[in-house]
Amino acid sequence: MSAAHYLKAIASRRTVYALKPELPSGVTLEEVQAIVQAIIKDTPTSFNSQVNRAIILTGAEHKRVWDQVVKSIPSDSGKKRPASVRDEAFGSVIFFTDDKTTEQLQAKFPAWASAFPQFADHSSGAAQINTWTALKQVGIGGHLQHFNGYVKAALPKSIPLEWQVHAQLAFGMPAVDSLPEKTYIDNPVKVFS
Ligand SMILES: Cc1cc2nc3c(=O)[nH]c(=O)nc-3n(C[C@H](O)[C@H](O)[C@H](O)COP(=O)(O)O)c2cc1C
Repeated sequence: MSAAHYLKAIASRRTVYALKPELPSGVTLEEVQAIVQAIIKDTPTSFNSQVNRAIILTGAEHKRVWDQVVKSIPSDSGKKRPASVRDEAFGSVIFFTDDKTTEQLQAKFPAWASAFPQFADHSSGAAQINTWTALKQVGIGGHLQHFNGYVKAALPKSIPLEWQVHAQLAFGMPAVDSLPEKTYIDNPVKVFS
């Protein structure tokens, strides 16, 4: 694989809000699970702490969690996005980091203690974008959301309380053929030597 291939994959990941609650033809839930599993395994973490965790919600559990999020939000305008996730996405990947792991690192390496929560944020962000990019490669569209507190309150009871919710990637079959054009700032990376 060339760098160009990888860069093309990065550039082709986009925010797709218009979704259908299905997977592209030939793509299975098991394949989605394997992609997310590989990303959680291989996305680097500080001190190789492997702080990332993820679950995939789909079917009745996806609907239950997102319905609870919708019902918990007071304003009608605020309900719109989570309602679209509930009704239009095939599923949602919930990204966590394990606070217990972060606390263990802080105890073991006190000089770095204040940095570990931020390192966990960084690794979670990397896992989120890796997932978003990889799912696009199999034709799945998605958008990233942060209903963290509401989602936390609605999660299956078996999810450990010390798993801190960072983000939700709603995913499904893209319901549009084209997306709004993305604009860019002039942002050169300069080399100093
Ligand atoms: C760290 C981060 C947080 C984001 N949070 C949200 C969010 O809470 N809700 C949302 O609709 N989009 C969110 N987005 C999507 C961005 O708005 C979107 O990626 C950006 O406008 C660029 O568009 P693109 O994804 O099509 O390239 C987030 C993206 C990133 C990288």
